[in-house]
Amino acid sequence: MKISDFRSDTVTCPTDEMRSAMASAEVGDDVLDGDPTVARLEAFAAEWLGKEGSLFVPSGTMANQVALGAWTRPGDELICERGAHIVNYEAGASGYLHGLQSITLAGQLGALDADEVRSAIKPDFIHCPKTGVVCMEQTHMSSGGSVVPMTSMVAVKELCSESGVPVHLDGARLGNAEAASGVSAAAWAATADSVSVCLSKGLGAPVGSLVAGDADFLLRARVVRKRLGGWMRQAGIIAAGGLYALENHRERLGEDHALAKELAARLDQFDGLSCDPSAVQTNLVIVEVSSGAPALAEQLGLRGVRVMALSPGTLRFVTHMDVGADDLDALERSLQEIFGG
Ligand SMILES: Cc1ncc(COP(=O)(O)O)c(C=O)c1O
Repeated sequence: MKISDFRSDTVTCPTDEMRSAMASAEVGDDVLDGDPTVARLEAFAAEWLGKEGSLFVPSGTMANQVALGAWTRPGDELICERGAHIVNYEAGASGYLHGLQSITLAGQLGALDADEVRSAIKPDFIHCPKTGVVCMEQTHMSSGGSVVPMTSMVAVKELCSESGVPVHLDGARLGNAEAASGVSAAAWAATADSVSVCLSKGLGAPVGSLVAGDADFLLRARVVRKRLGGWMRQAGIIAAGGLYALENHRERLGEDHALAKELAARLDQFDGLSCDPSAVQTNLVIVEVSSGAPALAEQLGLRGVRVMALSPGTLRFVTHMDVGADDLDALERSLQEIFGG
């Protein structure tokens, strides 16, 4: 049975061209002497993100956690939006690894309100924890891949700079924000002191993320990466896949966004499913299911269409390099069978 996998943009497999770039990558021991392909990837990413440098790490979670470890000390506070990946989906790593406590603020589709951040930043007072870092996320996953407006991000960055608090940007899908907005990744990243990006999401590489910032930040980040066991040896083999993805797959992200809009429009036609195509900004589509999302996900799965139930009433569909118009047709046929349309 052909599988149409809409669960995540992480399910993509490397293309033949990417595999051959990986197979022929020049490598070295990155810990002892440096790996030339890792060095090329880190330089390419730093240029893309407009930062002094970047570090290659195995995952988006590690990229975020390296940044938290580089900015904070145990007992500090992390401020972020309530749905942020960094506090909801990283298995409590900020507390477990760095001894941080978190203040989460209700956002508007992922956008923090600068005045609320200002009120949440602690005064310099012996009884209070120090506000160690503010974290933003672009695109914002839990609100359905929304692009957080530049005005809100700039306002947060400005007040944090006034207060001496560093800002980290979880840019796991920053390429999607760039494609959807036409604003460069560097301009988005300029609203933060450090930024993480993933190569294994919409960009289609099998593994890897980067965390970028200035030279001082990178000095500390390097130590945290070492402590977390994220400094890899002949990592050029995987870095080559990431470099190929950055060089060749960013331009096509708009296709995923167009497909996501089309998917939302088709889903919205079914009684029992509700989804506003005009709310779809990037490659994530959140659909309300009146009859129960897990049961519908199971029925679709039996027909070769994989989707993720986020809650009892919502399903998440994600478009990516390995799904296309045929997969939308397969999804529509399956829904017609299930709903009897
Ligand atoms: C916004 C966001 N940040 C970070 C991550 C973590 O990435 P990884 O799964 O590579 O650890 C994800 C994963 O989906 C994500 O969506």
